[in-house]
Amino acid sequence: MNTLEVNIKSRAKQYPIYIDNADFSVLRRKIIQECGDKNYIVVFNQKVYKLYSKEFDFPKDRIFILKDGEKEKNYKNYLKILDFALSKKLKREDYIIAIGGGVVGDIAGFAASTYMRGINFIQVPTTLLAMTDSSVGGKVAINTNYGKNLVGAFYQPKVVFINTNFLKTLDVNQYKSGLGEVIKYGFIEKSCDEDSEFDLLNFLNENCEKILNKDSYTMERLISACVQLKIKVVENDEKESGLRKILNYGHTYAHAVEKLTNYRKYTHGECVIEGIKFALNLAVKKNLIDKEYQFLCSDIIQKYEYKPLKAFVSSKYIPIMTTDKKATGDCINFILPVQYAQVGEYKFTVPELFELVSDNK
Ligand SMILES: NC(=O)c1ccc[n+]([C@@H]2O[C@H](COP(=O)([O-])OP(=O)(O)OC[C@H]3O[C@@H](n4cnc5c(N)ncnc54)[C@H](O)[C@@H]3O)[C@@H](O)[C@H]2O)c1
Repeated sequence: MNTLEVNIKSRAKQYPIYIDNADFSVLRRKIIQECGDKNYIVVFNQKVYKLYSKEFDFPKDRIFILKDGEKEKNYKNYLKILDFALSKKLKREDYIIAIGGGVVGDIAGFAASTYMRGINFIQVPTTLLAMTDSSVGGKVAINTNYGKNLVGAFYQPKVVFINTNFLKTLDVNQYKSGLGEVIKYGFIEKSCDEDSEFDLLNFLNENCEKILNKDSYTMERLISACVQLKIKVVENDEKESGLRKILNYGHTYAHAVEKLTNYRKYTHGECVIEGIKFALNLAVKKNLIDKEYQFLCSDIIQKYEYKPLKAFVSSKYIPIMTTDKKATGDCINFILPVQYAQVGEYKFTVPELFELVSDNK
């Protein structure tokens, strides 16, 4: 088992993230132990509950089941979770436990952050994306009619339990979607932690088959490496005012494609991979990296067998990029590669970007 510590110094807040592949009975016991004699409710993703209700046989009257899908991360369900907690008479020292992917973690975490101005919160992520990204760092939120994740908070959990056995039932699309974010960490490793000696890019390059086959030991190492990088970033920049921006590598283009396709046609991870390829092209054109590094990165991506997405024309996606949450003034911000496993932030005006990408495809 790996135990990683998150230490948010600005708030004197510290908590552990446990990563293992132990039997689910062990995980259940640890959750119960963590709650001690306190009261709790468990917010479960519906599909995960169907798959794992035997292993996690919490009292039925403590369980809130959230239907499947991104659209469920809404005001209505947020209020329902709060009402459920109130009906169970939860007090501030009690617990909300989230078992599911990023959707459940985000909405249950936001409910926890506002219930009596903040109640204990336990994350049990069950997707690869939630294990390596959304359960780490304390961003919790719900979606609105005006956009995704627009109402939320920075609220750190009491503990995160990552068990790689959950990955066995994850379908290939969801798994490869999470893998898109994992691959991203490989390209930004040194910017997250300049002292990191893991060499995640090399690990991704050499262990592709084991990773695609969800080999338990390999996945434990891989997830630990990614979580460690995210911890470094979050510890330095909890509220996304600086360093945390590098996690957006590949995301400026990815978000535009997701909007263009109404979030339906491709998974988030597929779009991130396409966004990384876009960033590599842009970086070559700006002479930030040479073709050799671009080929190395493209080779690694290719090993993971993502199908190329439809090529969009710049007149479609650039206007969307200007509306990105991270755009500033007249400029579109990109995180671009600058050298091996390192990235930097670059701003482009719209005409400049049109000129650079005109023959991009
Ligand atoms: N808070 C953050 O920092 C942060 C970061 C990235 C993404 N997010 C959010 O995370 C959400 C996406 O998370 P996600 O990709 O985990 O989506 P998700 O929670 O919708 O889960 C994806 C699918 O996998 C299924 N599933 C979950 N665990 C399973 C398992 N073990 N076996 C079989 N099926 C399983 C779910 O039922 C669902 O259909 C988005 O709402 C996004 O905004 C948050």
